[in-house]
Amino acid sequence: MTNDQKSTAHFNVAQLRVDLWNRLRSEVQSIVSDTWESAKNTNHKKEALELLKNLAAVEQYYSFPGSKKVKKLQKSLEREEYVAVSRSVAEFVRQLVSDSYRSNPQFMKYKEEENQEDEGTEQAPRGARKNYFEVLFVDNLSKNEEEALRRKIGELREKDEHLVYDITVQRSFQDALIALLINFNIQSVVIRYAPPFKSGEINELLRPFLEKVIELDYSERSEEELGPILGKIIKQFRPELDVYYVTDTALQNLKDSTLKNFRRIFYRKDDIQELHLAILRGIRERYKTPFYTALKEYSKKPVGVFHAMPISRGNSVFKSRWIRDFGEFYGRNICLAETSSTSGGLDSLLQPTGTLKEAQEMASRAYGSRETFFVTNGTSTSNKIVQQALVEPGDLVLIDRDCHKSHHYGLVLAGALPVYLDSYPIEKYSMYGAVPLHEIKKTLLELKSAGRLDNVKMLLLTNCTFDGLVYNVEKVMEEVLAIKPDVIFLWDEAWFAFAGFTYTYKQRTGMFVANKLYNKYRSDSYRDRYKNHIESLSGDEVPSMPDPGKVKIRVYATQSTHKTLTSFRQGSMIHVWDEDFRRLVSDSFQEAYMTHTSTSPNYQILASLDAGRRQVQFEGYELVEKSVELAMSVRAKIHDHPVLKKYFRVLTVRDFIPDEFRPSGLDEYYTDQGGWNRMEDAWEHDEFVLDPTKITLAVGLSGIDGDTFKNKYLMDQYNIQINKTSRNSILFMTSIGTTRGSVAYLINTLLHIAGNLDEELPALNKKEKDIVEQRITSLMEDVPPLPDFSHFHSSFQAVKGVPGGDIRKAYFLAYRQENCEYIALDECLDILENGRELVSTTFVIPYPPGFPVLVPGQVISREIIRFLLVLDVKEIHGYRPELGVKVFKEKVLGTTETISAPTEVKTQED
Ligand SMILES: Cc1ncc(COP(=O)(O)O)c(C=O)c1O
Repeated sequence: MTNDQKSTAHFNVAQLRVDLWNRLRSEVQSIVSDTWESAKNTNHKKEALELLKNLAAVEQYYSFPGSKKVKKLQKSLEREEYVAVSRSVAEFVRQLVSDSYRSNPQFMKYKEEENQEDEGTEQAPRGARKNYFEVLFVDNLSKNEEEALRRKIGELREKDEHLVYDITVQRSFQDALIALLINFNIQSVVIRYAPPFKSGEINELLRPFLEKVIELDYSERSEEELGPILGKIIKQFRPELDVYYVTDTALQNLKDSTLKNFRRIFYRKDDIQELHLAILRGIRERYKTPFYTALKEYSKKPVGVFHAMPISRGNSVFKSRWIRDFGEFYGRNICLAETSSTSGGLDSLLQPTGTLKEAQEMASRAYGSRETFFVTNGTSTSNKIVQQALVEPGDLVLIDRDCHKSHHYGLVLAGALPVYLDSYPIEKYSMYGAVPLHEIKKTLLELKSAGRLDNVKMLLLTNCTFDGLVYNVEKVMEEVLAIKPDVIFLWDEAWFAFAGFTYTYKQRTGMFVANKLYNKYRSDSYRDRYKNHIESLSGDEVPSMPDPGKVKIRVYATQSTHKTLTSFRQGSMIHVWDEDFRRLVSDSFQEAYMTHTSTSPNYQILASLDAGRRQVQFEGYELVEKSVELAMSVRAKIHDHPVLKKYFRVLTVRDFIPDEFRPSGLDEYYTDQGGWNRMEDAWEHDEFVLDPTKITLAVGLSGIDGDTFKNKYLMDQYNIQINKTSRNSILFMTSIGTTRGSVAYLINTLLHIAGNLDEELPALNKKEKDIVEQRITSLMEDVPPLPDFSHFHSSFQAVKGVPGGDIRKAYFLAYRQENCEYIALDECLDILENGRELVSTTFVIPYPPGFPVLVPGQVISREIIRFLLVLDVKEIHGYRPELGVKVFKEKVLGTTETISAPTEVKTQED
C-alpha cells in the first residue's frame, strides 16, 4: 500500500452502521444475562454507551431508527432499564437487517390517527405493502419545529396511499450531502431557506467515508447561494431525485441556472399541503411504467384473437392435452401478455408514438442520454445498429480487437475498414487488459501522417471489459477529440448498465462524460484555457485539448440491461448523446434500426426494460452500492481465510493494471493489515481501474484449470453458474440480484472444494504429487503468450503500410470455396518457414478468451500459430481441427487489388 492510500475497517457506512447495531445488541444482551451486581462491574454498559454515542452520530442521517430513538435508548440505559433496552435494540436490528420497516412502515401515522402516540414499532400492520421512502428537508429547524413539520405531514398522509414517506431533517449543507451519500431511502429533497454550510460535528468513525463530501468546500459562499449550489450538486450526483427549493427570492431574480436544477420552486408562504402533493406527484411520475402498465391492462381485457399468435390468451397452451404443463410452469399472465397487437394502449417499437415512445423517453432521462432506444435482441444487435447507422463503406473505425464479436460482424456488414488496436496483455492469466490511450493516440497520429485522419469516423471501445477493466472515459475522449474533434465514440457498455447509478462509476460512463464535456467546451473559461494551451505549445507539439470551435460531442453507448440490471434476457438499450443526431443521423439510424429489429419484438422484454428503469430510478443507487459491498466481502473473505488462500487468490488491481496506468497507487482494494482502501481517488484519476464487482479468482494453484473448475466443480457439484474462465482463473460477478445468502453459499462451496483438496493431496504418493505439481506449474507458469494483431495482407489493406483493412472484402471472397483451402495446424509453421504467407479467410475465436485471434484478411503470424498449438480450450469458433486452418489460396491473393484511399475527403455534411 502506498502512503497516500487511505484505508478503513469497514467498506462503507452501511457496514459500519449494521456492525454498530449488532455490537450494541450483543453488549446489552450480555448485560441482561449478567447478574445485577456483576453488570455494574463489567465494561458492557460503558461499551454500550459508547456505541450509542457513535450510533447517535450515524443515525442523525436516517429517519429510522433515527437519533431520537437512539437518545431514548441512551436514557433508558442510564436508568438501568436493561431488559427494555435489549428488546428495543433487538427489534431495531431485526427491522434494519430484514428491511421490514420499509415495506411495512408500522411507525407511520396517518391522517385520522394524529392523536396516537408514536411509540416506534408497536402499531398493527395496515393493509397492502407500502412503498416507503424518505424526504430530506434541508432547513435549520429547531427540534420542536421538526416535530411540528413531521406532525403536519402525518396529518396529510392518506391511509390508502401506497407511497408513504417520513422526513429526515438536515440542518446544514454538509449534513445534507452526507445524508444523500449514505441514506438510500431519500427520494426527494426539499431545500428550505438558507442552510448554514458547516455540519456541527462529523463523527470520527464516519469521516473516512465522507472525504469527497468534506472536500467540497463552500464555506466562503453566502447562505443564500448555498441552496442553489446544493441543487446543482444533487443534479450531478443523484439526478433521479426530485429536488424542490423553498425561497423568498422573487421569480424574476432567480437565475435560469437555479431554476433548471429544481423540479419546482415554492415560496415560504405556500402551503405545506402543496409541497406534500408535489412530492407525491414527483414520485408517482417516476413510478410510472407506461409500456409495462399498458401491457398489464391489455392482458386483463377479454379479447377474441383473430390475428397471429395462438399462444396469446393462453388458448393454444391451456386447452392442450400435451403442453399444459408448459403453461403451468410460466403461469397464465405470460400468455395473457402475449400479443401481436400494437393498438389498445400498446405501441409499435418500429414506429413508437405512444407508450413505448414514453417508456424510451423516461429511460433516456434515467440513463442521462439525449435519446434512448430499446432493443430486444441483445447488445449484439445494438452494436450492429449503431455501426450501420453511423459508418459508411470505406470509413475507418478504430476498434479494440478483443471486443465482442458483434462489432467485427457489424464492420463486415457496414463495409467499414477496421483499424485494430491492441489491448495490453495480462500474460500470467491469459487475458487482455484494455487499450492504452498512448496506443490510440499513436494510431491516430500515424493515420494523420498518412493523410487518412479525415476518414476516421469512429472509436469503439469496450467499457468495462468482461474482466472489469474500466477506461478513463473523460481522458480518452478529451485527448482523442484534441486530435480529431468530430470523431464518434461507441462505448460498448454491455457490462456496465448499472454504472450510471452511483457516482464513482457514473463518471466513467459514456453518457455522463458526453454531457460533462459538452458543457465544458461551451464555457468561456474553457475557451480561455484552450487559448493559453495553444500559445504554450512549441513547434510540432500536439495539442492535448480539443479546439472548442471545432469539437463535436457524438457519443453512443450500448448496454445489455439484462446482464447487470433487471430485464429479461436480450433486453438491451442504445443510449445516444450526439449533438448531430437529429440533423445527421436520425434517418440512417432509423434504417439501421429497421434492418436489425424484428417486426415482432418481444413485449415481455420491452416491459421488463420499462420496469427495470423504474427500479434503477428508485433503488439503483442502493442496489449498486450493495452489490459492490458484497463483492468486496467476497474479496476479503477469500483473501483472509487460511484454507481458501492456499488454493485460490482473488486477482488484485495490481494483477490487472500495470503501475504506469495507476498514478493513484491503488493496487489492492483490501489488505489484511489495512482493511479497505478507498477507491474514489483512483476512479477519478487513473487511466484504468478495476470494477470490484468482477471478481477473478485464480484457481490454478488448486491444480484445476478454469474450464474444469467451472463445469465439473461449480456447476455439476454445487449448481453454481459463472460466466467466464481463463486457463487458470474463473470470473464471478456480483450484481443487483446477488444476495448475502448466495455469497455465503459461494464461500461455503469454495471451502468444501478446498477442504477436499486438503484431504486428497496428502494422500497422494510421490509420483502422483509430482504430477499435481507439474499441472500447477503448467497452469500458473507455462502460459502461452497472447498474440498481437499481426496485419492485414496487402490485398486487404485499405492503404499499403497504413493501419486499416477491408475485412468485408476478405469475408465475402471466402464465400467461394474455390478461393480457399485448409492447412493442418501443425504444418503451418513449416509453410511459413518456407516463405508462404498464410491469410485467414474467417474469424477464429477461441473461447476462452473469446476474442478473434484471426479476422478475415489477416496474415497468420508464427505467434498466432504457436498460440493455437498450445491452446487447450475445447471451443474455437471458426476452426475445425479435423480440417485445419482455412486460408486463401495463393493465387487468389495475387489477383485481388488493394483498395485505394478515397481521393476526396468526405465531410459529415456531404
Ligand atoms: C462486451 C460485450 N458486448 C456485447 C455483448 C453482447 O451482448 P448480448 O448478450 O446482450 O447480445 C457481450 C456479450 O457477452 C459482450 O461481452
